[in-house]
Amino acid sequence: MSGKDLVHLQCYFGIDTLDWARRGARVTGLDFSGPAVAAASELAGEMGIDAGFVESDVYDAVNALGGRDFDIVYTGLGALIWLPDIRRWAGVIAELLRPGGFLYLAEFHPFTDVFGDDDLTVEHGYFHREEPTVWEDSGTYADLEAETVRNRSFEWSHTLSDVVNAVIGAGLPVELLNEHDYTLFPRRPILEKSGFDTYRLPEGTPNLPLMYSLRARPA
Ligand SMILES: C[S@@+](CC[C@H](N)C(=O)[O-])C[C@H]1O[C@@H](n2cnc3c(N)ncnc32)[C@H](O)[C@@H]1O
Repeated sequence: MSGKDLVHLQCYFGIDTLDWARRGARVTGLDFSGPAVAAASELAGEMGIDAGFVESDVYDAVNALGGRDFDIVYTGLGALIWLPDIRRWAGVIAELLRPGGFLYLAEFHPFTDVFGDDDLTVEHGYFHREEPTVWEDSGTYADLEAETVRNRSFEWSHTLSDVVNAVIGAGLPVELLNEHDYTLFPRRPILEKSGFDTYRLPEGTPNLPLMYSLRARPA
């Protein structure tokens, strides 16, 4: 990471962005939530880390970042489900990368979205639909019991092939694609903690993909 220019898309309040900086990257985080980027800047200040945070819709990232290009575009961990158009997203990434740079994506596996909230009962379809799925849930993933006010959210699923094809279609051949049997977020009660920050399905349940990671580089 040392000396690399990295942009973290949909960085939320910047924890992972700042972690990349601690590993030596020159980092910029981008998110369309004003309070999130404000909190990220404050955290960077408190930690004495030199990091830039920009408030922007990811689809406007090229302009918002002033036409800068990067060695690494990093994103994921709950980012893609909020985006209606995955091809447009991939096009933005292609524009942000300098020659020799790469996209690194680490994301929750879309296959797991077929299950209901409580167990492994199949309740939802797998494939992308233009119409979003609308949720009306209070709480956040950081505090499931939190009393929140704006509770309507819109999600779109993007299958693994949607993402891979969008990235390739944007001129970024995929050079690494892995599926993982662990996740970093205990989204369902059935998941068991299996390490410092990893969760797995209990022994005896079928082994399913819970996350995937992908690296792609301009041809
Ligand atoms: C689950 S959080 C991502 C967390 C992040 N991966 C992390 O590890 O900290 C999703 C983020 O996407 C942002 N977001 C959703 N749609 C966006 C868009 N169109 N443009 C920019 N940010 C967006 C939200 O504001 C939120 O901070």
